[in-house]
Formats: sequence, C-alpha cells, structure tokens
Amino acid sequence: MIFTSIFTALVAASAVVAVPVVAVNQKRAAPTDLDILQYALTLEHLENAFYSGALSQFDAAAFEAAGYKSWVRERFQQIANHEASHVEFLSGALGDAATKACTYSFPYTDPKSFAALSAVLEGVGVAAYLGAAQFITNPAYLTAAGAILTVETRHVAWVQSAVMTNAAWSGAFETPLDLNNVYSLAAPFITSCPDSNPTLPVQAFPALTTTGSMPTPGGPVTFSFNSTSAGDRPLFAAFFMGLQTKFVPLDDSMTATVPAEAIGTVYAVISTNDTAVTDDSTVAGPAIFEFRLPEGAA
Ligand SMILES: *[C@@H]1O[C@H](CO)[C@@H](O)[C@H](O)[C@H]1NC(C)=O
Ligand SMILES: *[C@@H]1O[C@H](CO)[C@@H](O)[C@H](O)[C@H]1NC(C)=O
Repeated sequence: MIFTSIFTALVAASAVVAVPVVAVNQKRAAPTDLDILQYALTLEHLENAFYSGALSQFDAAAFEAAGYKSWVRERFQQIANHEASHVEFLSGALGDAATKACTYSFPYTDPKSFAALSAVLEGVGVAAYLGAAQFITNPAYLTAAGAILTVETRHVAWVQSAVMTNAAWSGAFETPLDLNNVYSLAAPFITSCPDSNPTLPVQAFPALTTTGSMPTPGGPVTFSFNSTSAGDRPLFAAFFMGLQTKFVPLDDSMTATVPAEAIGTVYAVISTNDTAVTDDSTVAGPAIFEFRLPEGAA
C-alpha cells in the first residue's frame, strides 16, 4: 500500500515520496573504499532488477498503449543494459566478496508508473554517487565512480525531459545524499537478501511522509513520521537543494514552510539541529519532493 501511495504521489506534478522503516544496522564507522564499492553495487543490483523486471513485464505494445513512441522503450532498454554493465563491472572489481542481488518489490503497474519511478530512482542514484565520492581514497575508483555517475546523470536527464516532460535538471548544482539517507530510500524496495551478503555500514531512518495537499514552494507542508528519538527538542525540516541545506522550524502540528526557492528534485529530513544535519540529528526521512520548473522553463 505504501508503494501505491508512492506511485500516486510520483505521477502528480508536485509529489512526495514516502518510504517505510526498515531494519537498522549498527552505527557506522567511516566507510572504506570496499564499503563504497559494495554500497554502489547494492544500488546497481537494485537498478538492474528494476529495469530488467519492468522491460520483461511491459513489451513494445504496452509502451505503445501508454502513448510512448517506440524509441522510449528502446532507450530504456539501453539504460537497462548500462545498469547490467555496472553490476558486472563492480562485481568484477570485488570478486568473490561482491554482494549479490537481493529480491525486490517495485510498485510499477504500467509503463507510465515505471517511467515516473525511474526518474526518482535515477535521481537517488546520482545523489548516492555524489554523496559517496568524498569517501573514495583510490583515484582509480574515483574515476570509475565518476564514469558511472555521469552516465546515471544522463539517464535522469533523459527520463525527466524526454519521457516526463520535466526539466532535465533541478538547478546549477546536483544534490548529494549521504549513505544513510540513500539507504533509507532504497531499502523499502528490497524484500530479502542472501545471508552471505556483507553487512553495509548503513542504517535506515524512520519514514517521512506528508499529509494534506501537495506542497508548493513557499507554501506550507505538514510532515508525518514515527520517531521517539527527538524527545522534546525543537525540530526542523532540513531541505537539501543542490549544495545548500535550508532549515525551517516545525510548529507543534509538524508544519513548516517550503523554501520559496525550492525547485526540481528536493529532499527533506527532520532534524533536531538547525545548522547541521548529521546521522545523530536526523529524526526521520528523507522525503522526496518534485517541484516542477515553471511552464516554459523545461
Ligand atoms: C506511523 O505509525 C502508524 C501506526 O503504526 C502508521 O499507520 C503510520 O503510517 C506511520 N507513519 C509513518 C510516516 O510511517
Ligand atoms: C548543531 O550542530 C552544530 C555543528 O555540528 C553544533 O556545533 C551544535 O552544537 C549543534 N546544536 C545542537 C542543538 O545540537
């Protein structure tokens, strides 16, 4: 049901994606290059399953029935091939230690809901590589990760613009997300994993959803989350927009004002700190907002 609500939100012009809570691992130490490779492979396995599953389910006729030209499915097939190559590449680098594919559950029901979720997943993939880059110490790995990151960015630009008729970008700067925030967004799609898979030094935060009508930039947004970690401390919504984080106080009804300058894909978490977001200060999240650029800006 949560997935249905994710999908419903995704297809709206201005949408919020919510994810449920998942199992929590130990608090993490600084990730090593090996951790980052396993983390990247974990995400690539997910993307690979996402595309191969959708394309085996929806044939050319299904895409045509959804109103897409034939090249749309053909290019999704190319993206699927890229994700399979990324899995092969990272698995080759990790050898026997490579984390294996899990089983997954994705909420797409037709080519349109698949395309909408593709735009979000690719965006999170880009944010993941960008956020993890600071931990890579081996220059060769950094170049390889960059070579994947830039192609994932082309994917999201193509899906957003050619398929979704949104702008291809959010602004002058892409938004990095840290490991736990990415894992919080990815984990709800993971049903189960082989016991032999290495444990990643990541944990998922409690889910963050919004209630009421779709928020707009400069307008109110009311958040909903289940967390006891905040106690009585004042809470803030931290909006991640490019390289900036904008903090907005939450009132007693968990309502905050969306920054007026929010545009494109914006992520938000609830934080007990109004100057810095850390794993310790994060109470719930992320939620994903898609604020369309004004008509004609796309
Ligand atoms: C909070 O918990 C309630 C009761 O279990 C549940 O119905 C609701 O969906 C949860 N909210 C979030 C944002 O996870
Ligand atoms: C918020 O984070 C900053 C920077 O890490 C820190 O100096 C400050 O003490 C924190 N404030 C609270 C209320 O925890």
